[in-house]
Amino acid sequence: MIQKLRPRRIRINENIREMVKETTISPKDFVYPIFVVPGEHIKEEIPSMPDVYHFSVDNAVEVAKEIADLGIPSVEVFGLPEYKDEIGSSAWDMNSPVQRAITAIKKAVPELVIVGDVCLCQYTNHGHCGKLCGHYVDNDSTLELLSKVAVSQAEAGADIVAPSDMMDGRVAAIRDSLDSKGFINVSIMSYAVKYASGFYAPFRDAADSAPQFGDRKQYQMDPANFREALKEVELDIAEGADIIMVKPATAYLDVVRSVRNKINHPVAVYNVSGEYAMVKAAARNGWIDEKRIVLESLTCMKRAGADIIITYHAIDAAKWI
Ligand code: PBG
Repeated sequence: MIQKLRPRRIRINENIREMVKETTISPKDFVYPIFVVPGEHIKEEIPSMPDVYHFSVDNAVEVAKEIADLGIPSVEVFGLPEYKDEIGSSAWDMNSPVQRAITAIKKAVPELVIVGDVCLCQYTNHGHCGKLCGHYVDNDSTLELLSKVAVSQAEAGADIVAPSDMMDGRVAAIRDSLDSKGFINVSIMSYAVKYASGFYAPFRDAADSAPQFGDRKQYQMDPANFREALKEVELDIAEGADIIMVKPATAYLDVVRSVRNKINHPVAVYNVSGEYAMVKAAARNGWIDEKRIVLESLTCMKRAGADIIITYHAIDAAKWI
């Protein structure tokens, strides 16, 4: 008997494969993270993140131009401050690298959507994402501080603020503060589902933000939990989040798919530093084909339901697509 059902028929050549392709990726899907540091004319590679750099504000502007030229619509700005203290007050200092970079990028490339990462861990001398009460990160007093950070970034010119701290109620607190200062059109992209993940290790080198004691498990989620992710998403939507993020990406695509099926808000994923570093390390050893792995991974994030992909691969991927 001749086999009648042949899924292979529609894989027979490149054109037919293109015709039946269900998911495509485009530079328009990406957000590129930029790390800004104090000083001038600085471009220093981050050792655990090959091809990713610390930039001073002047060079961050040049990268932002390159991003826009590649058709990537957005950058997310992270910063290393000039000083750290108990409460992370440099996080809302208008003279800090992040605020200056946001203003300078907005001026040079007005159409680029600028996302400000709202957190305190890069700015506190203990490396935790909020104000300490003994060894406990105090939730409610941290909300005021995060609100100040969000407002300062909006004042600098950010289009979107992205709280990544995982305090309860921060979306509502930030929305209130933004609105009361007239920033009604500044969006909130909430790191709604952020796991306490080992995949952030290279970022902590990049942002000098490792906790000086303990870990972040009191506020970030347990990788073992799924239902809790949906609860976090519900709460952040109720508090006024405009875009919902799941982080990290690759190991959590089941969560991305479920969140996508459950809500009508845009879903973002953060393809984090450890995911990036693993690909780069294996590629440098000649063990994998970097281009192929990167495009495959990004396509799978989109297939899982992500509308927006924050990724350090954005520049390379945009060139390869
Ligand atoms: C700040 C923050 C982190 C990341 C984004 N914002 C680190 C952390 O929570 O420890 C991770 C990004 C990455 O790993 O690429 N809280």
